[in-house]
Amino acid sequence: MADKTGQPFLKWAGGKRQLLPELLARAPMKISTFYEPMCGGAALTFALLDRESPPDRVVVNDSNVTLMDSFIVVRDRLDELLEKLAVVETSYLSLGETDRSNFYYEQRASEHEELIDRVVQFLFLNKTCFNGLYRVNKKGEFNVPHGRYKNPKILNEGVLSTASRLLNRAEIFSGDYAERFTNFSKNDFVYFDPPFEPLSVTSSFTSYNPGGFGRIEQIRLRSICDFLTDHEVKFLLSNSAHDYIRGLFDGALRDYAISEVDARRSINSDKAGRSKIKEILVSNY
Ligand SMILES: C[S@@+](CC[C@H](N)C(=O)[O-])C[C@H]1O[C@@H](n2cnc3c(N)ncnc32)[C@H](O)[C@@H]1O
Repeated sequence: MADKTGQPFLKWAGGKRQLLPELLARAPMKISTFYEPMCGGAALTFALLDRESPPDRVVVNDSNVTLMDSFIVVRDRLDELLEKLAVVETSYLSLGETDRSNFYYEQRASEHEELIDRVVQFLFLNKTCFNGLYRVNKKGEFNVPHGRYKNPKILNEGVLSTASRLLNRAEIFSGDYAERFTNFSKNDFVYFDPPFEPLSVTSSFTSYNPGGFGRIEQIRLRSICDFLTDHEVKFLLSNSAHDYIRGLFDGALRDYAISEVDARRSINSDKAGRSKIKEILVSNY
């Protein structure tokens, strides 16, 4: 099996793979601890872990518990995971269109006691649901419809094995991003990729969690950025190029660098929204 480059093993809304060159160009060369506290698929974490001078320590976190459970299982129980995913993949791919759809909805409705089975279910749904979205209803139940891909790669052994090896040095948490900053030092580096401030009503995709991520949340995040800045910890943040976000950082009474970059949304319910959009990158260095 060929070793793959470090990359996300999941599809994730707002995934940063195509913005990576911009992010890597801005990442400091020497990093003691790298924090990705709203990591989603963790594209930047995998890229940094795979570079010639990786960070000494890596902390990944997301408020999505099952997502972070999947990181733990990929890191600690790879062989079992590969075996179980192979079984689900063979079963699913052997079916015709209607049976695949039935299989999907049965899997979606199943409840599992065992952590590994919950993660297999999560990865299966991620690869076979509509656009790789993650959306839950008010009761916290995953409610994305079936995606009808011809040949979805439910088991990508190369990507999962590389991710497992790279995550070996990662500390994995699930919770609120602000809880991670209790102990940091000067050469630490933080990358924030919050749910975007929507540019239009149709481009809104802020409901990764019940509760969403509204403007009050964007203000709280800015205050954490100020806190890190006052403690001389470098941060980089991306968001949509919305005047509200720009104004938040322009008005922070700190010397933040704000630049605009072109990005392409990979997951968006609005087809027109898949064209290029502007994002902003904010940093304190
Ligand atoms: C734009 S996505 C990150 C995409 C990621 N950079 C990637 O490459 O896939 C935003 C993430 O923030 C997480 N999130 C939302 N609120 C959070 C909070 N209060 N604390 C931690 N994570 C949060 C969501 O679960 C989601 O995974």
